[in-house]
Amino acid sequence: MTYTSNQFIAFFGATGGCTNACLVHTLNAGLHATALARTPSKLTDMLHAQGVSQSTIDAQLTIIKGDIADITAIKSVLFSNKDGNAIIASQIISGVGGTPQMRWSIKKPVTIDNPEICATTMNNIMKALREIYTEYPSTTQHKPSISVISTTGISDVHEDVPYGFKSFYHVALADPHKDKKEMERLIAENMAEADESTQLFRGFVAVRPSLLVGDQNIKKGKGWEKLKVGQEDKPAVGYTVHRADVGQWIFEQVIKSGGESYFGQRITLTN
Ligand SMILES: NC(=O)c1ccc[n+]([C@@H]2O[C@H](COP(=O)([O-])OP(=O)(O)OC[C@H]3O[C@@H](n4cnc5c(N)ncnc54)[C@H](OP(=O)(O)O)[C@@H]3O)[C@@H](O)[C@H]2O)c1
Repeated sequence: MTYTSNQFIAFFGATGGCTNACLVHTLNAGLHATALARTPSKLTDMLHAQGVSQSTIDAQLTIIKGDIADITAIKSVLFSNKDGNAIIASQIISGVGGTPQMRWSIKKPVTIDNPEICATTMNNIMKALREIYTEYPSTTQHKPSISVISTTGISDVHEDVPYGFKSFYHVALADPHKDKKEMERLIAENMAEADESTQLFRGFVAVRPSLLVGDQNIKKGKGWEKLKVGQEDKPAVGYTVHRADVGQWIFEQVIKSGGESYFGQRITLTN
């Protein structure tokens, strides 16, 4: 896909490992981006640590300070109206997620600080898009695609969790998984609407990584080409995957190409 200088990619959760790595690749490729951040200095510090210069950030990245509950902030990430030119993001990348918390429970020892964060994120992005489309109808001609970082362990079609992780995934991680499943359901339900005009996205990709390891450092991953990649009915089953590799895969396979060949798919990624 060829991006013009007024096209941009909208990031949510860019201080998380996978999405930060994806943003670094995006900026290094000279593309423009916007990002929602609760703490903008945390995002710029992470980018500096990966060698992204302040001049690159100034020229290519617009950081909007805000929480995912803030629809006005989300709209500013998704849409720009510079000099009367209404421009909507070409692609949306979301890796928003909660912080795991341990609790005294044999059945469900892992919960997250906000057990509905992914569904809330999706509902709010969808609400923001509806408002933008209503206020600026021309933007409906250029609807963005969306890629979300979901998880393995939620498929109703095919088991994608390796034997040794089954009870950990299907019992211990039940809360975060319910949230991811709802996030995917919200997108799929909207995209299945018969009336195309009510569909909010050009296409969607649900990226389902196995257990995440490592951080956002793009020099520390094994490289996206070494990943095992599967689809929902033929998943790639494995134990772990490096965050930097997940971010790089999204950059290489979705952002760079436009991602059309993956639209509508649930892609499993593992090392
Ligand atoms: N851990 C695993 O093994 C595993 C496996 C599969 C999938 N996943 C999922 O994969 C995704 C990416 O994981 P990751 O480890 O790369 O990133 P992560 O560390 O989970 O990052 C989460 C991101 O969401 C942001 N966020 C959380 N609450 C927010 C709010 N209310 N408003 C705005 N932003 C908010 C965080 O911002 P702050 O920096 O401000 O907190 C951060 O940027 C997550 O959804 C995670 O649950 C995890």
